[in-house]
Amino acid sequence: MKKSVLSGIRATGRLHLGNYLGAVKGMLELQNDPQYKTLYMVADAHTVTTPYHANELKVNRREVIIDYLAAGLDPEKSIIFQQAEVNEHFELAFYFSSVMSIARMQHLPTFKEKIKQHPQGSTMALLNYPILMAADILVYKAGLVPVGIDQEPHLEIAREIARKMNEQYGTDFPEPVRFATKGEYVPSLKGEGKMSKSVEGSYINLTDSHDEIRKKVRSIPTSSYVGMDSKELLKTLFSYANLFIPKYKKQYEEELAKGTLKYISIKDQITEAIYNELKPFQEKRIEIEKNKEYVDKVIQDGTQKAKEIARKTVDEVKEKMGLS
Ligand code: TYM
Repeated sequence: MKKSVLSGIRATGRLHLGNYLGAVKGMLELQNDPQYKTLYMVADAHTVTTPYHANELKVNRREVIIDYLAAGLDPEKSIIFQQAEVNEHFELAFYFSSVMSIARMQHLPTFKEKIKQHPQGSTMALLNYPILMAADILVYKAGLVPVGIDQEPHLEIAREIARKMNEQYGTDFPEPVRFATKGEYVPSLKGEGKMSKSVEGSYINLTDSHDEIRKKVRSIPTSSYVGMDSKELLKTLFSYANLFIPKYKKQYEEELAKGTLKYISIKDQITEAIYNELKPFQEKRIEIEKNKEYVDKVIQDGTQKAKEIARKTVDEVKEKMGLS
């Protein structure tokens, strides 16, 4: 039996470089490895855990699927679907919530961080976020999850739930682990924290033009602030160099030591490397966007295949929990 893989991205807008390097690259690698059965969804239901607009979500839950296809996810190899279409995720999440304590969920760093960002948004949906994520993964008994390093606390919850369910009810859930990529943590362009859709000026979208990319890469901080040493200041620039132009890293470090390093020339080389990586994606995206029927069919087929697998797991769990 092939090992299952599941991953997803929320429908908060167009994908950015962090999503691409931290998640999509891993999704592609596992899709192309025949030992895995890969399932990739847009986590549209997770989008309602923080304030959002329904009309934007309606568009974005489809745009993420188009981004997936343009990036190379292939419906012949992977099951591609929208989370909210597969009710079994919610059903399983409810059963899972019966083995987790409120205190455990409230202490999760990701929960605390989100509450800080959205002080009015302390909802039950947000508290349940990791439980739904565990259900997304375990409803397919997936043992491998290609996601960025920021998702580790959520995977810890999924492992805890799998253990508790197996102990209490004799289910056979695997304890899912993260599949890490080289870009598991892409820093913000602003020099502090990670690249994130919720921080303006921190990200590069996969659909950004050459000029936009250049402007954004040039905004990476390189002139000193009081109290910041130059090593700390250049950390972000060097992380991007390491991700996109690794073979020049040594040369730049030597130039830095000699005091001859020209920041603008590294920045422009990084821009070229990013643009070259994104160009085929952007061209393919334009083609896929035009083909509405194809996208509809991918979603429809994917949903049906996902549902078949998910239903079996939920029926098994109901049986073991005394609900059938
Ligand atoms: P989301 O939309 O916040 O992030 C989607 C993916 O992008 C990765 N990512 C990054 N990786 C590296 N550097 C960054 N700066 C960066 N920013 C984002 C995230 O790690 C993630 O892999 N909870 C998930 C969505 C989800 C999910 C799931 C994932 C829901 N159910 C089940 C896997 C399995 C999330 O945060 O999405």
